[in-house]
Amino acid sequence: MHGDIERILLSEEEILRGLDRVAQTLTEEYAGQEITAVCVLKGSCIFVADLIRRLQVPLNLAFAYVQSYGDRTEPGELVTHLMPTEDELRGRRVLLLDDILDSGRTLRLVKRELIARGAADVRTCVFLDKPARRAVEFEADHACFQVDDLFVVGYGLDYAGRYRNLRFVGALREEIYAGEDVTP
Ligand code: IMP
Ligand code: MG
Repeated sequence: MHGDIERILLSEEEILRGLDRVAQTLTEEYAGQEITAVCVLKGSCIFVADLIRRLQVPLNLAFAYVQSYGDRTEPGELVTHLMPTEDELRGRRVLLLDDILDSGRTLRLVKRELIARGAADVRTCVFLDKPARRAVEFEADHACFQVDDLFVVGYGLDYAGRYRNLRFVGALREEIYAGEDVTP
């Protein structure tokens, strides 16, 4: 285990079992249909790579990047950048994939943007759901795991850009972020 990690919340084996379960559900849900999987960068890249290889439906891969213009304490204005062109989205069934559903602001915004650009249907699947932190009305259609209200890293999730490459999800030692506001 990495020295900065207080405890492991989800081991690599548990993560992959959770992905198998959700991928099976999604494969049944989208049976016979072609989808566009939208990966919200950067945190979702590892989750998306593992999930889409378990989906047995034809799919295209697209990316969204959400920038926040705020300071460390105020959640700033969010701006979405999409990597598919409008042609690639029009009339498509979109599966929007994110690492964690926290306040709900990111996914609510990206979903609206995808619909505005002509997607026929947008469903959401998150790796982690932190329901205690919801600030806007938004629920994912699928979540692999629920987590308590604590800051987690690993398997794509970062603190100050680090720890994305851990194979597991863990809680950071308090001294790592002591005095810092870790609210995204
Ligand atoms: P939102 O608050 O639902 O808009 O989530 C915004 C983003 O905050 C997520 O996509 C993550 O990148 C980040 N985030 C939220 N909670 C955590 C956490 O516990 N660890 C790492 N990143 C987090
Ligand atoms: Mg992030």
